[in-house]
Amino acid sequence: MNIWKKLTIYACGILLTCAVFSMAVMAGGSPLKDNACGACHQDYSKIMPQKHPDVGPAKGTACLTCHTTDPAKNEPTKFSTDVHKVHQGGKTKLECSVCHIL
Ligand code: HEC
Ligand code: HEC
Ligand code: HEC
Repeated sequence: MNIWKKLTIYACGILLTCAVFSMAVMAGGSPLKDNACGACHQDYSKIMPQKHPDVGPAKGTACLTCHTTDPAKNEPTKFSTDVHKVHQGGKTKLECSVCHIL
């Protein structure tokens, strides 16, 4: 086989692998930054909804220790829906990149 043909096939293979990989990563939405909430909210017990189930001493722990979106489902949870609503006009307006690694 001619060298250029071989190279082209390799290049296509690499591109395809990258595409599949990035789709898998993006499936649950783009990942969150480290300390995505703590950058602005120091006291988590203050932003926990009033009618939140009692979580005892865990009140004040980062929300995401309990609330994560299942990456396999790629569906908004009530938590992510609430968080998006609050920060997209509800109480303030943030760019997606404030919380997500884009
Ligand atoms: C760039 C700053 C910033 C980041 C990052 C941020 N928030 Fe907020 N958030 C705000 C502001 C400003 C408000 C509106 C004022 C307030 O209620 O403190 C708010 C309000 C809220 C409220 C409503 C609180 C209330 O008084 O009803 C919740 C819940 C909340 N944020 C959760 C989160 C979570 C969870 C994250 C991380 C995924 C997060 N925030 C990341 C700035 C931020
Ligand atoms: C120790 C675990 C834990 C922590 C930490 C936690 N939560 Fe929750 N949260 C729960 C549980 C359990 C429920 C009930 C969910 C259910 O019924 O599926 C809930 C429910 C909610 C709901 C109602 C919507 C829903 O998913 O049912 C909101 C909104 C919410 N939490 C916001 C927050 C915020 C904001 C924080 C951070 C300040 C936070 N939670 C921290 C465990 C936690
Ligand atoms: C205040 C922080 C914050 C901002 C701003 C934000 N998001 Fe999110 N986003 C979250 C959190 C928290 C989750 C759920 C946690 C997880 O994915 O593990 C999430 C999840 C998602 C998901 C996965 C599906 C879901 O709802 O769980 C998508 C898609 C998404 N965000 C898109 C966006 C887009 C597009 C924007 C800008 C218009 C945006 N987000 C802005 C915090 C934020």
